[in-house]
Amino acid sequence: MIHAGLEGIVAADSKISLVDGKNGFLVYRGEWAKKIAKERSFEEAAYFLWNGTYPKAEELERFTTSLSEARTLTKAQKEIIDRLPANMDMMAVIRTLLSAKGSEEFSFPAKHDEGICLLGIVPTIIAYRYRSQNDLPFIEPDTSLSHVGNYLYMLNGERAENHHVQALTAYFILTMEHGLNASTFTARVIASTESDLASAVTGAIGAMKGPLHGGAPTGVIDLLQEIKQDGDVEKVLRRKLDNKEKLMGFGHRVYKTKDPRAVALSEITSTFYDDEEFAMAHEVEQTAVRLLQEYKPDRNLYANVEYYAAAILRAIDLPTELFTPTFTAARCAGWIAHVYEQNENNRIIRPSSVYSGSMPE
Ligand code: ACO
Repeated sequence: MIHAGLEGIVAADSKISLVDGKNGFLVYRGEWAKKIAKERSFEEAAYFLWNGTYPKAEELERFTTSLSEARTLTKAQKEIIDRLPANMDMMAVIRTLLSAKGSEEFSFPAKHDEGICLLGIVPTIIAYRYRSQNDLPFIEPDTSLSHVGNYLYMLNGERAENHHVQALTAYFILTMEHGLNASTFTARVIASTESDLASAVTGAIGAMKGPLHGGAPTGVIDLLQEIKQDGDVEKVLRRKLDNKEKLMGFGHRVYKTKDPRAVALSEITSTFYDDEEFAMAHEVEQTAVRLLQEYKPDRNLYANVEYYAAAILRAIDLPTELFTPTFTAARCAGWIAHVYEQNENNRIIRPSSVYSGSMPE
């Protein structure tokens, strides 16, 4: 029997996360992801994901310091970015820069410092490239800022408001890990050959780049924009459903109940944002869920993570072309956790295929 897309195949025993689509649970290392997103910094969450325990004060200090020191691009790295074709997309830029990490720096099994090095550099690669593409001077990283706060600072050239940092931190934490999704599985396959961490993360970025995985929530922005222009939420949604169009930001392959990441992002952000745009996002969500129940009664369609990600990323004024790269900067933490775990108890991942070609005469 062929399991197309490996659907339903259990390929790893993992202690990193539970993604329970039936009950709408997302658990990292025995804790609700939502609780972590509400209570912890990205640094604490990443440490927890990698180690399974929260850092003590001095461990957190060490982790935070090394992560912030890993933000600096070398002259050679800047030169590589500068020489890349102007039309090369951001995901390809990140992938190229991580690929350029030499195997002399990275070896099997993956080391803790190697994870820090990769996690720390991705936001700087994005910011450097983004600013140079927009004829803006590069902003050197500020080691006094948090991982997420510094990312916004390097992009915008000024310190972000606290609530923007908090909202983006919640997004980073809620998207940093999601079981054996395509990119994480790719990272584990590469790690299973006893290759190095930089290769595994480079491959994962290649998988994330595809529209079926890292696809940006721009469709959601377009939907909200269209509704805003029309002014009649139900009319626009009905028109789409009558035309057999999908409502962007709704439905999920795994979650057949509310996507816990969407629930968490909605709750967390409603404490920071109390404006018209968010009120409209909530109204659209409620109307869409009601109409989806009417049009697709057996499908259990609810808002997914992309729905509220779009609302948050727009609220912090993140350019839409940076949505997928930002998701990548967050998911990097999950890939690294999985490579460490794969290294601990490794067996090469090597599925089979059925030959359906012809035989020699
Ligand atoms: N709006 C309207 N109808 C929908 C929607 C939607 N958003 N999502 C699913 N349906 C309907 C389909 O039309 C189909 O109905 P039918 O069988 O009566 O024709 C049924 O529900 C099943 O849909 P599939 O596309 O087969 O479900 P699948 O599990 O393959 O796809 C997916 C899940 C791709 C997320 C889908 O729900 C979708 O396209 N949603 C809109 C795009 C979106 O929001 N993508 C982001 C997902 S989150 C993430 O990737 C991180």
